[in-house]
Amino acid sequence: MSYDLVVIGTGPGGYVCAIRAAQLGLKTAVVEKRATHGGTCLNVGCIPSKALLHASEAFEETTKHLPVMGISVGEPQLDLPQMMAFKQEGVDGNTKGVAFLLKKNGVESFQGVGRLAGAGRVEVRLEDGGNHLLETRNIVIATGSDVANLPGVTIDEEVVVSSTGALDLTKVPEKLLVIGAGVIGLELGSVWRRLGSEVMVVEYLDRILPGMDGEVGKQFQRILEKQGIKFRLSSKVTGVERTNVGAKVRVEPASGGTAETLEADVVLVAIGRVPYTNGLGLETVGVQLDNKGRILTDNLYATNVTGIYAIGDVIAGPMLAHKAEDEGVAVAEILAGKAGHVNYGVIPNVVYTAPEVASVGMTEEELKKDGIAYKTGKFPFTANGRAKVNQTTDGFVKVLADAGTDRVLGVHIVGADAGNLIMEVAVAMEFGASSEDIARTCHAHPTLTEAVKEAALAVEKRALHM
Ligand code: FAD
Ligand code: NAI
Repeated sequence: MSYDLVVIGTGPGGYVCAIRAAQLGLKTAVVEKRATHGGTCLNVGCIPSKALLHASEAFEETTKHLPVMGISVGEPQLDLPQMMAFKQEGVDGNTKGVAFLLKKNGVESFQGVGRLAGAGRVEVRLEDGGNHLLETRNIVIATGSDVANLPGVTIDEEVVVSSTGALDLTKVPEKLLVIGAGVIGLELGSVWRRLGSEVMVVEYLDRILPGMDGEVGKQFQRILEKQGIKFRLSSKVTGVERTNVGAKVRVEPASGGTAETLEADVVLVAIGRVPYTNGLGLETVGVQLDNKGRILTDNLYATNVTGIYAIGDVIAGPMLAHKAEDEGVAVAEILAGKAGHVNYGVIPNVVYTAPEVASVGMTEEELKKDGIAYKTGKFPFTANGRAKVNQTTDGFVKVLADAGTDRVLGVHIVGADAGNLIMEVAVAMEFGASSEDIARTCHAHPTLTEAVKEAALAVEKRALHM
């Protein structure tokens, strides 16, 4: 069988690419080694983690916020197997949805491990041991990423877990030790704290959420500490030893010094993810990698081998589902002779904790590093009417605008619903908006979005409610 396009991997990058290619009239097939479509994101990432974040937040609401509003439902009882079933139902609904969409668009699916077998040829090792050879004009590699391992620490997905194991624990650990204060550590640390765990996060750097705006990191750490999460910054884990009841974790100052041993029932290793290219046979056709093991592409997603492209977590850039999706659309459009493109300057980044953290564009640290002169407007949620009445006053909005042109360069939000609030800014930035444009846009009252408008007003020191 001969195709215009074969996509290897059906995560958010691969399946979206296949759908867009089929929409544009390309005869398209996908190869996926998992039993279900949707990749890391739908099976063991974005979707199950958000289901548990939602459910655990509701659990905590029953004792924290409902009584304040005059609603008493008594002592909440946790039915963890039911919560996990709720999570799985969400996952199944989404993965089945992708299978339906692929079929609806006429994309053929092959289940098995895809391997490059020369120019224009993909070999699929089928589940039953057989092989299938697909001939194609173009190949898009969308094989995603995998958990980064910590040397000397063996992940068994029971006591020492990756995010995958942490999404599937059968019991609430009394003590959860998280290695890495990045997105996974803070989201899943929050889930288990809300369900009753004592959570300690050990982070190598002297701050949490590296890569995000420093002020955001600082304030967010204080909020999480108030919620009960403990942090051990500038510290490294040098060994984890399983015991009969859990694990002993050796922690040292990052710069060296006296080690101490911490005990935990479960240890979550969340120190990043690495591109996944195992078994793809890149070497057989000579596809080049960069120094971080990512597939090297040009700005049209082409590798050094004619007809082979790559997108998503397996190439450079933020490891985010929406970045992978947009690259999937872009490469499909390029292959169909159109002008596909992704604006890497405007990729929103959201941490789905409570409150949420959201950012788009440049941080203050990046602006300083690049020597760009900027103005800052800040507005706290304590001064927003809707946040006050909802009692969700933690956090703030910060708008960074070019000192000369007033163009919005970055916006950083800690606060309830920050993930939705950031999107008006992303659209504004796509249109090259100034802070004045946001400040002069009528925002509905009473909404949390008024804090974004007020922060934009604050750029010229004319916030009205502060
Ligand atoms: P993947 O989703 O990893 O998909 C790759 C697919 O390729 C997999 O299904 C794999 O089985 C398949 N594959 C690999 N090799 C082969 C082969 N040789 N043959 C056939 N198939 C193969 N991002 C967000 O934007 N928002 C979030 O809220 C979010 N939450 C996350 C939570 C967790 C716990 C984790 C781990 C990640 C989260 N992410 C989130 C990141 C997001 O999951 C990834 O950025 C996204 O899945 C990348 O998409 P992708 O298509 O590049 O790869
Ligand atoms: P991360 O890169 O976000 O954070 C890893 C953290 O571990 C960093 O703070 C790093 O300094 C620290 N670290 C590294 N080595 C360490 C060591 N030896 N000891 C202690 N700390 C160490 O990676 P994370 O949290 O594993 O997530 C992986 C990726 O998945 C993210 O980068 C993100 O792209 C994606 N993701 C996105 C989500 C979202 O969009 N809401 C949710 C979850 C994951």
